[in-house]
Amino acid sequence: MNSVEAQVREYYDTAGPAYHKLMGSIWHHGDLAAEQEGLSPEEAGKALARKQVAAAGLQPGETALDFGSGVGGTTIYMASISQAYFVGISNNEWLSTQARRYAAEQGMSEQVAFLTIGDEDYKNLIAWPDKSLDMVSWFESVCHLPDKASFFAAAFRVLRPGAHLVGVDWIQRPFGDNQTDEQIARWIRPVEEVISIPWLGTVDSYREMISEAGFRVEVAEDLYPDVECWGSTPVDDGQGWGDYDGELSSVIHDGKRVLDAARSAGVFSVGRWVARKPG
Ligand SMILES: C[S@@+](CC[C@H](N)C(=O)[O-])C[C@H]1O[C@@H](n2cnc3c(N)ncnc32)[C@H](O)[C@@H]1O
Repeated sequence: MNSVEAQVREYYDTAGPAYHKLMGSIWHHGDLAAEQEGLSPEEAGKALARKQVAAAGLQPGETALDFGSGVGGTTIYMASISQAYFVGISNNEWLSTQARRYAAEQGMSEQVAFLTIGDEDYKNLIAWPDKSLDMVSWFESVCHLPDKASFFAAAFRVLRPGAHLVGVDWIQRPFGDNQTDEQIARWIRPVEEVISIPWLGTVDSYREMISEAGFRVEVAEDLYPDVECWGSTPVDDGQGWGDYDGELSSVIHDGKRVLDAARSAGVFSVGRWVARKPG
């Protein structure tokens, strides 16, 4: 039986081309205020990326690592607004290849590189020396890791003192009539099974793991407090998920169905964290 990490890699063999077609180069949720102003999912996603780069205080010429960079849109955007150097990492070479191509198209190849790492390399990030980076970011990727705590410990090691870890991720929470673990699990388990997520955390479980790794947590928040989290895949399916007819399209249709159900029940949301390495 394949490891969980290998299953995630294989999931993106199918989901990667589908997400690319349906969402373009930026896949994560956006800033809620930007969404409410009517900005596109891409513009709202960029607004949230700007917020994270600003929170980290990343400066021109500094070096950052974006964990789980997908097809690269957000990594390249963060590099362009900060003028910092970025390395985006994924465990799926198809994703890294698309990201490199996009960086070349944008004239950003001298500022951004995309590397494919081994399935379990996230646990120690040994390619990076101690205290060598000025920011580590992630956008909706740590949710796929069975051993999230090891990633946070590795991020702590590679960051210089005073530098920031910033992240955005899928979470579960109590909402409305769904308050108990059992009631929440009814909606969240199908999401975990279909979308290859070993376990969805909470705002607080991430805060605890990040703090346990040695960071001072400055922000740990639910980005959709008190409202259902529709975000980048609006309920009217304007992006066309239901009509997607690429390879293994049933996986994509099932993913949309179970995620919409969890969004509707209110128990699915997206969290945001900003944490500083002391010193
Ligand atoms: C949903 S995509 C996020 C893409 C991008 N951050 C965005 O929001 O547009 C998840 C990413 O996490 C990466 N990932 C998942 N498990 C991983 C692992 N074990 N090692 C490295 N990357 C992993 C996938 O390869 C993919 O790039």
